[in-house]
Amino acid sequence: MSTTEHSAAGSEEAPAVNFPALTDVVTPFAVRCAATLRLADLIGAGSRDAAALAESAGADPAALARLLDHLCVAGLFAADGDSYRVTAAGAVLREDHPAGLRATLDLETFVGRSDSSCANLLHSVRTGEPGYQKTFGAPLWTDTVAHPELVTGFEHLHEMFGAWSEPTVTGGFDWASAKQVVDVGCGHGAVLRRLLLAFGHLRATLVDLPEIVARAEQSLGEAGLGDRVSGAPGSYFDPLPEGADTYLLSLIVHQEPHERAVALLRRCADAAGSHGTVLVMQAPVTPANRFAMTALDLRMLVTVGGRERTVDQYRDLFAEAGLRIAGQYAGGSESPVDPVLFACVAN
Ligand SMILES: C[S@@+](CC[C@H](N)C(=O)[O-])C[C@H]1O[C@@H](n2cnc3c(N)ncnc32)[C@H](O)[C@@H]1O
Repeated sequence: MSTTEHSAAGSEEAPAVNFPALTDVVTPFAVRCAATLRLADLIGAGSRDAAALAESAGADPAALARLLDHLCVAGLFAADGDSYRVTAAGAVLREDHPAGLRATLDLETFVGRSDSSCANLLHSVRTGEPGYQKTFGAPLWTDTVAHPELVTGFEHLHEMFGAWSEPTVTGGFDWASAKQVVDVGCGHGAVLRRLLLAFGHLRATLVDLPEIVARAEQSLGEAGLGDRVSGAPGSYFDPLPEGADTYLLSLIVHQEPHERAVALLRRCADAAGSHGTVLVMQAPVTPANRFAMTALDLRMLVTVGGRERTVDQYRDLFAEAGLRIAGQYAGGSESPVDPVLFACVAN
């Protein structure tokens, strides 16, 4: 290989990397502390020095001053003597900023606790097990239902995903012929609400952990859909309500590792029998989005032990559970991470 060839190949394999930025662990957590303590809003409301800010935020004044100084280095705050102000860049940490970032950086929310569990990524990579339990002492869903304040953040996230997946879930599949859908792992009903509003004849059964089914019943009741849904609280690893024509798993299969995903799909296949359809909504990994999906894939690993999969990997999973893909519907978005609805029937 000539020198020119060697350096061309080398530069292709090794794009320029800003190593200090890539490996700094203090600043990302410092920014999250500022978001959690709502420092940008407190400064905006008139608290300027570390003592006043510490009093309002419930923090140690000396430690808070050290955090603020570091965030001045990061460019989010600036100091005039002992008085701090929010820079133009730091304004993004305000609650009312249109980017809506503050809540997603708050370490005491559903997303924030997921972020913190990344500190145990090494454990996950070594064992294939989630790091969340090692960080917080309980698996993610057990921890979430034990902290009602976390449920709100998780619902906010699912409203975003519900809007994203709506064209895929409501378009394509022949919902006009369906009568009863069992929403397996329904969350608070962000997807189901859209489905029931689009198809006025549909009725639904809600399967999720008891606390979450209660929330779904409340939220669907508030949307005027209470008389079309009934709750069946419990684990989706237990036998599911039989006799429905459709079983929907929206963003469920990717949160389970192989054996558990097969077990869950078998429960759906058993309940759907020879006449029902099992609908799986996921964004598959494709050659085009392979590298756009890696961060989400690692997050699934560290939070719940799940994984993102290619269409072939989903097909194999379905086959192990006695199902085959009979139809496949995409929402047709421009995004490389496009959700797909797999309609599966008994093999
Ligand atoms: C990612 S959310 C998806 C919610 C909803 N399907 C959606 O797309 O908006 C995953 C849901 O699975 C539920 N879940 C997790 N483990 C479960 C289990 N063993 N049995 C029933 N539901 C479970 C969680 O409580 C949560 O509501």
